Amino acid sequence: MSILIRGGTIVNHDHSRRGDVLIDGETIVALGGKLDAPKGAEIIDAGGCYVMPGGVDPHTHMELMFMGMVTADDFEWGTKAALSGGTTMIVDFCIPAPGASMLAAYQDWRRKAEKAAGDYGFHMAVTSWSRKIWEEMETVTKTYGINTFKHFMAYKGALMVNDDELYNSFLRCAELGAMPLVHAENGDVVFRLQEQLIAKGVTGPEGHAYSRPPEVEGEATNRAIMIADMAGTPLYVVHTSCRQSHEAIKRAREAGKRVFGEPLIQFLVLDEDEYRNKNWDHAARRVMSPPFRPKEHQDSLWAGLQSGSLQVVATDHCAFTTEQKRTGAKDFTKIPNGTGGLEDRMPVLWAAGVNTGRLTKEEFVAATSANPARILNIFPKKGVIAVGSDADVVVWDPKATKTITARKQVSRIDYNVFEGFKCTGLPMVTLNRGRIAWREGDLRAKKGGGKYIERPAFPAVHVANSTYKELTAPRAVEREVTP
Ligand code: URP
Ligand code: ZN
Ligand code: ZN
Repeated sequence: MSILIRGGTIVNHDHSRRGDVLIDGETIVALGGKLDAPKGAEIIDAGGCYVMPGGVDPHTHMELMFMGMVTADDFEWGTKAALSGGTTMIVDFCIPAPGASMLAAYQDWRRKAEKAAGDYGFHMAVTSWSRKIWEEMETVTKTYGINTFKHFMAYKGALMVNDDELYNSFLRCAELGAMPLVHAENGDVVFRLQEQLIAKGVTGPEGHAYSRPPEVEGEATNRAIMIADMAGTPLYVVHTSCRQSHEAIKRAREAGKRVFGEPLIQFLVLDEDEYRNKNWDHAARRVMSPPFRPKEHQDSLWAGLQSGSLQVVATDHCAFTTEQKRTGAKDFTKIPNGTGGLEDRMPVLWAAGVNTGRLTKEEFVAATSANPARILNIFPKKGVIAVGSDADVVVWDPKATKTITARKQVSRIDYNVFEGFKCTGLPMVTLNRGRIAWREGDLRAKKGGGKYIERPAFPAVHVANSTYKELTAPRAVEREVTP
């Protein structure tokens, strides 16, 4: 089956030009000024539209069991939501319970992801340290096509790892050609701040933000960068939310360290005032970690995207319902952390970034597609409109408008943190490997139509004396969150 996308402007991260895009099966087979349509080809008229690579969201949590609850969007509805907003691939976090096998967790995630309607890959989380984990990391990298390992520096007593674990794991990443990712918040300090706030009677969602100030993120980001440097590995800092963390990343890059930063679309347009909303549900729905920040941090994040010191925009889509959030009605530390955004990432970034002149349309493509694909080592299969690339294409109508509302969303949660946000610039058609997944409000993607995308290892770094090392101290037992 052939599809010819005719008369649009092709926008990649490095240049734009008028041209047609010819797709055969799952692949882009020709680009050109005026291409002839093969017999029987379906024609998509892209006049007045931009033709861009499908979005890659590098950070999602589908059907994740976290803080005793399972997120409402599974791989089917999460990827359908993604496709309706122009995102054709997600990279989800495979998270074994501390002490559990990575290989078993991988099988579990593959099973859950069979329902996916769009393409997906995985990161693996390192939630404990042992000889078994050290050995399994090799299979994960070499056999399962996962080249990134996430480390939680927060969620004490649950997923959090300490510096000893970080350093050992980062060394292992270096020798396997994998890249460590960090959730950078100082979990020990967060734990004490939570205790202090609860003791003072601060139990509402605003306590969540007060217990996780920018300093805990700045400190952890800086620490992770230094540990990665000592282990000789690059580093990717997930959900970068504040100036302190951005500045640590920027400093590291200026010193020649290979460090990447990932602001979320939520952090770019929403701020800490959301937690002071008089309506408890409104505030609790926005509880995630790190939290939304005072407005002035947004300027730093935008500047990072503009100057290149921050590279990608993600969502951390981890969709808990209002009912699930109410578990923390009397204690903010019990509110499950996470919120939605997958179908809104590209329209909101276009409206707040391109329409305001902060980002060019090429920079938009870099942040939403090309950079995640390059950093995660799936470029040029994903992230670019080029001959031979997967036919993941968004026909973007810069004049189309909508006001975001939960009533009309694809995601299964009962609210939207961007409720009322006005977007100009929307996907008219989304194609995933040559199949039309979304066309002008018509969701055509099918459960099970997504494909697992392997991400090969990077060139490995020689690590002297790379043998398994036992930890030097036992793990703490106090808990920030329920595992
Ligand atoms: O609050 C968040 N971010 N929930 C998802 C888990 C994580 O830390 O990424
Ligand atoms: Zn995290
Ligand atoms: Zn996350």
